[in-house]
Amino acid sequence: MTCAHSSCASALLRIHGLTVRYAASQEQSSPALVGVEFDIRRGETVGILGESGSGKSTLALSILGLLPVSTNITGSMLFENKDLLQFDESAWGTVRGTRIAMIFQDPGLSLSPVMRVGDQIAEVLRAHRPGPRKVRKQQVEAILRDVGLSQGDRIYGAYPHQLSGGELHRVAIAQALSCRPDVVIADEPTQSLDATRQAEILDVLREVNRKFGCAIIFITHNPALLAGFADRVIVMYAGRIVEEGPVPQVFRQPLHPYTKGLLQLVPASLQDPDRTRGQHLPALPGSLSHSDRSTRGCIFESRCFARTELCQSESPREVVPEEGRRVSCFNYEN
Ligand SMILES: Nc1ncnc2c1ncn2[C@@H]1O[C@H](COP(=O)(O)OP(=O)(O)OP(=O)(O)O)[C@@H](O)[C@H]1O
Ligand code: SF4
Ligand SMILES: [Mg+2]
Repeated sequence: MTCAHSSCASALLRIHGLTVRYAASQEQSSPALVGVEFDIRRGETVGILGESGSGKSTLALSILGLLPVSTNITGSMLFENKDLLQFDESAWGTVRGTRIAMIFQDPGLSLSPVMRVGDQIAEVLRAHRPGPRKVRKQQVEAILRDVGLSQGDRIYGAYPHQLSGGELHRVAIAQALSCRPDVVIADEPTQSLDATRQAEILDVLREVNRKFGCAIIFITHNPALLAGFADRVIVMYAGRIVEEGPVPQVFRQPLHPYTKGLLQLVPASLQDPDRTRGQHLPALPGSLSHSDRSTRGCIFESRCFARTELCQSESPREVVPEEGRRVSCFNYEN
């Protein structure tokens, strides 16, 4: 296994050779994830960056054991040295939502429209931490304050449709945090918000990470959201990790042509705040085609400005150019 970190022995979560193939696509196309390897240490903030279809959500759903049962999954996912892939539903019940929690892109997905939001968070607490009802209400109000919702009473008694988009996102974070998980996975959690609200939600997540020490895996296709937020970035293309490293180094000197392309999209989006909303971020020219997936060469070759003849016939191996970084490209030094 390639490890870009000096202290990988202390990994909280260790993904090794993770390959995922959806049942619907078994015959005709390649897996949604191919040999994915990385580790997460306690308390760190890691960004997963990649275009639409690169496998980010598949990765998140794998870590939460939420892929359809028909999905073919190989590899291992060690959480505190126990392989999550070997877990049955009852074992997952002790981990999902409690030790590893998820904030979905659309808070509506995790909130019932017909129940007061305070009761919904209290319900999660009751399931995992039984105790007197009155104490539970106080605990919920404290969690709401932790995510910046100071009007605890109003929020507690509100139905989801009575809250603004920003408040709903905070409630979703509060719900995910209620059991003090060790890992929080946030899948494009700010995509539907405007630039100001996006920044506020990132501030809440940063504060949560600082205060409770939970590791955060932040999934996005917008590199601008990771600057100043994540410690480390993992760049994904076509279900593979193509580059990984500390955010300051990767953003200052990206090595993979795909990472370079993604980062070149950012200055334009920063000049026009409206475009920092995920859906308006300009796209990298070209797209992954069917023949790219079956090539013997580099899977990014058809879109790559740095390609050479070798890239058509061979797939690049992963190299570690310096401690803490890795990249899969023949020409990363150019
Ligand atoms: N339930 C499914 N059944 C079959 N194929 C799927 C399923 N979910 C995702 N895929 C395919 O797996 C690949 C990875 O999809 P995934 O949703 O993980 O990408 P993503 O990086 O999260 O994209 P986005 O940025 O659009 O959310 C894509 O080719 C997608 O079409
Ligand atoms: S190996 Fe070749 S085609 Fe692939 S990213 Fe590097 S330069 Fe581009
Ligand atoms: Mg997704």
